[in-house]
Amino acid sequence: METLQAISKRHSTRDFKNDQIAGEDLDLILKAANCAPVGMGAYDSMHLTVIQNPELLAEIAGTSQGGPHSKGPFYGAPTVVLVSGKLNARFENIQFANAACIVENILIAAADLDIQSVYLWGFIPNLLTRPELLEKLALPDGFTPLSAAALGYAAEEEPYSHKGFGLTIIK
Ligand SMILES: Cc1cc2nc3c(=O)[nH]c(=O)nc-3n(C[C@H](O)[C@H](O)[C@H](O)COP(=O)(O)O)c2cc1C
Repeated sequence: METLQAISKRHSTRDFKNDQIAGEDLDLILKAANCAPVGMGAYDSMHLTVIQNPELLAEIAGTSQGGPHSKGPFYGAPTVVLVSGKLNARFENIQFANAACIVENILIAAADLDIQSVYLWGFIPNLLTRPELLEKLALPDGFTPLSAAALGYAAEEEPYSHKGFGLTIIK
């Protein structure tokens, strides 16, 4: 698939089947994640955690409401890729920008592979208040969860459209 097609096709899915994604697809998605730009080339300031253990996913999901969605914050996705970073006092927000670049690469690669996805941030504040769950994630020292991508197959094909941002062109 062409890159622009994959970008256009990416949209948020909020109801996933149980079916797991293939290991080869996950490898390609992680390869794309690792191609993301990173501020100051600080690759060692970011860490990816692939969570496919249903019990752990349920435990983390249980700490957070899924808004109007009954399936919780992961919407039943069988794979969640958590992006963590070493927060940097000098460039406070740079790791959030890094995480967004990584997650976007994951979402676009998934779209290319006909895997559905959704960017996840909402569950993170609750996760940060649960040391026992953070311990199970075995993050390297000093790393904080920042964002995540849920991956899987949509329970149903959903219509979607991209609304677009405000735009000013100055020539
Ligand atoms: C930084 C960020 C955080 C987001 N957090 C969540 C979230 O926690 N849960 C969720 O269902 N969607 C989340 N989204 C997805 C957005 O709601 C979604 O991308 C937006 O409504 C546009 O729809 P689309 O992805 O279908 O194009 C997040 C998106 C971004 C960029």
